[in-house]
Amino acid sequence: MNPSNFFQKASTILESLKKDFLFRILEIPSGIDLSSNDYLSLTKHPKLIASVKEGLDLYGAGSGASRLVSGHRDSFDTAEKACSEWTGTESALMVANGYAANLGLISCIANAKTEIFTDRLNHASILDGVRLSGAEKTYYKHVNLNHLEELLQKSKKREKIIVSETVFSMDGDFAPIEDLLYLKKRYEATLILDDAHGIGVFGDQGSGKIFEVLGKDKIREVDFITYTSGKALGLEGAWIGTSKIGREFLINKMRTFIYSTAPLPAVAHAVPTSISLLKTMENERKDILKKSEQLRKRLDLKKYPKSNSQSQIVPVLFPSEKSVLDAAQLCRNNGLYVKAIRPPTVTVPRLRISIHSDTTESTLEKLISLLPEF
Ligand SMILES: Cc1ncc(COP(=O)(O)O)c(C=O)c1O
Repeated sequence: MNPSNFFQKASTILESLKKDFLFRILEIPSGIDLSSNDYLSLTKHPKLIASVKEGLDLYGAGSGASRLVSGHRDSFDTAEKACSEWTGTESALMVANGYAANLGLISCIANAKTEIFTDRLNHASILDGVRLSGAEKTYYKHVNLNHLEELLQKSKKREKIIVSETVFSMDGDFAPIEDLLYLKKRYEATLILDDAHGIGVFGDQGSGKIFEVLGKDKIREVDFITYTSGKALGLEGAWIGTSKIGREFLINKMRTFIYSTAPLPAVAHAVPTSISLLKTMENERKDILKKSEQLRKRLDLKKYPKSNSQSQIVPVLFPSEKSVLDAAQLCRNNGLYVKAIRPPTVTVPRLRISIHSDTTESTLEKLISLLPEF
């Protein structure tokens, strides 16, 4: 393609995004954080920062190669052991980030012979993994297990995969984890759960939503679990919790693991520190969930459309892209860092409010007072 033609086409596309209030720009966040996934405010925790610095001194600035070449370090082994002990999986494999985890995992365990049943609201990284795998993609209605079962019954494929987030990233509601496990067994499917927004926030000692629901004995019945360390853990990266054989398979077959430079060993070094901090934050977790509930009640009183949120992620739904952009801008002008989430990320535009351990009641009061009446 002639590059100048491409840029002409790109500028037409960008103009139309602007016209539809869908254009995206980069901004440096300022003000009180109501947007990030740093739910336990660990990115600023002195002990975690010290741990990353210690890791840099011990391991240097970068890993230099893929883990299979010369990028492997003992900090990965230690972190993976800490992750699996914490969450109750048999083993764990660290990956550069949650996107690479989902993309690599799904595309290496599925192929054209597989049918993948994916919740309609699953994250883009899951969808992209499904696409890349070449498997048949079948959406089931959001958290609708009757629909999922109907589709499973109709399936002609021998290899089936069910995939779902546990705490939905844009709606803050929960997947029916036990029922998904039941269907996985009944239809002999592989089950993948993504606990990106559950880890650190739910479960005994922050061990995640799946652990909270299934406990130590049943969590190993889930074949693969994606956990991220860029959210409640306050770092970056991700790991996949699975069986020992599952881990060996990923090391041998997962292209985003094999053909990519290993993540920073210093970050892996800090993962156990983050886990030990999270284990002690029971009060903070309760407080986050209490404040989230308060916010939902205040939104109800203000007659905002009811969401299904049950977690630290509280969507505030708006009737149009323009109205949500205006509301986000008003919040930012008044010192609250709030972002508008619009299509194609979601179908209904929204402010995605995330509650953190340092979110105060007066911040929530201020947010409510700034939100327009409808
Ligand atoms: C449910 C879910 N899975 C995976 C990811 C990707 O994780 P990461 O940001 O580490 O790439 C995200 C990120 O927003 C997410 O919300």
